[in-house]
Amino acid sequence: MSEFLELVKSRRSVRTFDGQALDNTVVEDLKSFAQSIVNPYGIPVRFEFLDADEHKLSSPVLAGEKLYVSAVVAKGEHAEEAYGYAFEALLMHAHEMGLGTVWIGGTMPRDKFENATGLADGEVMPCVSPLGKEAKKMSVKEALMRKGVKADSRFDFEELFFVGDFGTAMTPGKAMEAGLRDALESVRLAPSAVNKQPWRVVIGDRVAHFYEKHDKGYITPDYDLQKIDIGIAMYHFEQELLAEGRTPKCEISDPGILVPADVDYVASFRW
Ligand SMILES: Cc1cc2nc3c(=O)[nH]c(=O)nc-3n(C[C@H](O)[C@H](O)[C@H](O)COP(=O)(O)O)c2cc1C
Repeated sequence: MSEFLELVKSRRSVRTFDGQALDNTVVEDLKSFAQSIVNPYGIPVRFEFLDADEHKLSSPVLAGEKLYVSAVVAKGEHAEEAYGYAFEALLMHAHEMGLGTVWIGGTMPRDKFENATGLADGEVMPCVSPLGKEAKKMSVKEALMRKGVKADSRFDFEELFFVGDFGTAMTPGKAMEAGLRDALESVRLAPSAVNKQPWRVVIGDRVAHFYEKHDKGYITPDYDLQKIDIGIAMYHFEQELLAEGRTPKCEISDPGILVPADVDYVASFRW
């Protein structure tokens, strides 16, 4: 198994922290990694590191966090996919460094976070994450929350992945034969808002087409939160293929496959 898939498997959202500030060297590493992140769309995503005490920031679902990172993007076409991809790159790096994180797109006093972040005209800050060491014990609140969204479960391959068109389900066995078992598993285990797992993937000849299955209530006037989830899934898929020595290239080229209700094409990877 690749190191990337191991990281994907060991990651979970962390909402209870140890109450300690991170060492400066750790924060500097995170900041310099954040600066280095690029995404397939070439759309800039800006990260702001925010001291929780200094800015009086908190979230009703978190405990013991001392540092946040917020991510900002200019509103526009493909902003969400670029955003999900780039922010997930940072959060997976933090996980690799032994830190706990959780995407927060809803359960926060948004005005306070936006003020502390500082938004220019046309910019949006859909999500933030705490960064810190996980507490020894999960809070009761966190355990209940995980239960509420069934955070430890995911849809099966057959519900998410398809071969050629949406009528033919991809089984784990077929994925193995196609050399895509681990890349699709990396997608399947990705985090998503309310664990809705809105990604659908249709596999063709050395190409994977990514689609978004819309649920009600995730499109705000400024952005589509579930499209951010698709950006996260794209990052996972690409990183696993790269870890296996392949060279996926992202393209936006709708193959015109007949789609089920509420499903839209987003992007493809070809290798
Ligand atoms: C875009 C996005 C927004 C999210 N917003 C919140 C949030 O506001 N509050 C929260 O507690 N968790 C939030 N989550 C975390 C999800 O609930 C979590 O990823 C999902 O339940 C799966 O659990 P896991 O990350 O532990 O695998 C968000 C996740 C994503 C990807």
